[in-house]
Amino acid sequence: MSNESKKITVVGLGYVGLTTALCFASRGFNVVGVDIDANKIDAINNKRLPIHEPGLDRILTESLGKGFTPTSEIPHSDIYFITVGTPSKKDGSVDLQYIEKASEDIGSAIEAGGADTHPLMIVKSTVPPGTTRNVVKARVERKSGKNVGVDIDLCSNPEFLREGSAVEDTLNPDRIIIGEYDKRSGDTLENLYQGFYGTDKSPPLIRTSVENAELTKYANNAFLAMKVSFINEIAHMCEIIPGADVNVVAKGIGLDKRIGERFLNAGLGWGGSCFPKDVKALIAHSKSLGYRPLIASSTLEVNDQQPHRAIDIAKSALGKLRHRRIALLGLAFKPDTDDIREAVSLKIISKLLEEGANVTAYDPAAIPNVQKVLGEKISYSASALECIKDADCCIIVTEWNEFKELTPDDFLRSMKNPVVVDGRRIFRPSDFANKGVAFRAIGLGKEPDETSH
Ligand code: UGA
Repeated sequence: MSNESKKITVVGLGYVGLTTALCFASRGFNVVGVDIDANKIDAINNKRLPIHEPGLDRILTESLGKGFTPTSEIPHSDIYFITVGTPSKKDGSVDLQYIEKASEDIGSAIEAGGADTHPLMIVKSTVPPGTTRNVVKARVERKSGKNVGVDIDLCSNPEFLREGSAVEDTLNPDRIIIGEYDKRSGDTLENLYQGFYGTDKSPPLIRTSVENAELTKYANNAFLAMKVSFINEIAHMCEIIPGADVNVVAKGIGLDKRIGERFLNAGLGWGGSCFPKDVKALIAHSKSLGYRPLIASSTLEVNDQQPHRAIDIAKSALGKLRHRRIALLGLAFKPDTDDIREAVSLKIISKLLEEGANVTAYDPAAIPNVQKVLGEKISYSASALECIKDADCCIIVTEWNEFKELTPDDFLRSMKNPVVVDGRRIFRPSDFANKGVAFRAIGLGKEPDETSH
């Protein structure tokens, strides 16, 4: 059977599932997207995406009814991707209930397909090492009455796409990791990807054990989170060393090819649906095996402190924050998304409200999501300029491009008290010199005192 004539079912239509399903459909594959949320399926069937992701709406419009079918029931298929969520439990360990349910439902679909099929199951969700072999395999075998390694192929195939560039990352990944239960499973998945990318354009591909693939995903996210926490720690030092600037230090170390320039942007900390959950899961999983991972734990600790830097810097400029009007620019956990999961903005808002400040916020995409959580506890503005009007302090929380257009003059003219805390280093400090704005930034030390030499 050619790849294109195989039926692919993707179970779980979050960022990873929707992007995977639509990208396969856009390359001529026959794809069914399944989600238990009937409202989500309705919306997708009406060409409305439940997420804000560049390029995805165009693919949806082009492939709906022509290769892509959204539904609530898992049909019998040749290939099943599991892309359901793996949220954190209170203790940081992973809640596997959606993985368990998806494995069982796929087992039932395989059983209904009859004897002469040999499907491939692929776990794309981020799961602790051992889950594919112990949790997924056992459940699918029980429900299907068939055996992995005999009648069913099984792989772990972690996903590395980023929100905001999910389509681009899927079409041009740095590498593909295939964790194979056995050789046949790995061959089938490698063959599928060759059909997707073309044999000559296939990205680097690693075939390994299921457990190595599962752990690679956690190690990848933990390393990136560590890189950011590391530069944020250096940023803290820069703030107390006159003459220091973390951006220059980051550039200097980033040019060392062994370190690399990317993911060295100091800021108010990392958020989102992945780094916090995955670093905590790695720590919890390792602890369950008897080892407390030191670097992952510190990575998290530094990140928990980081949003407070914005408050400390604001306080050092204003004194008490009580009844002060603080303008927050940016609510999403990063630019080009409306996602506010584990967003730094929420931590800063909670602290500001505790201090008795009046908070006004603006974000180009995430206001509706924040309103659902915070309601009228803060005020919302329709533009960046409206947000900073009459404010005592402005904190840049997310580095949306449109904030970079603001000039020292905008702050000077609009604010009651022109104090700017650049929490994402979007402005050049020299542009603010002698402009009448008190400019502070993450990772920026005071001017050195020439007379002390
Ligand atoms: C992250 C990984 O980058 C993806 O490879 C992975 O597939 C994904 O998690 C996942 O596991 O699903 P994402 O959460 O979309 O992707 O966001 P990133 O672009 O990695 O940013 C994460 C956080 O780090 C953001 O809050 C961002 O503002 C922060 N960050 C990133 C910094 O503060 N500084 C940097 O230099 C880079």
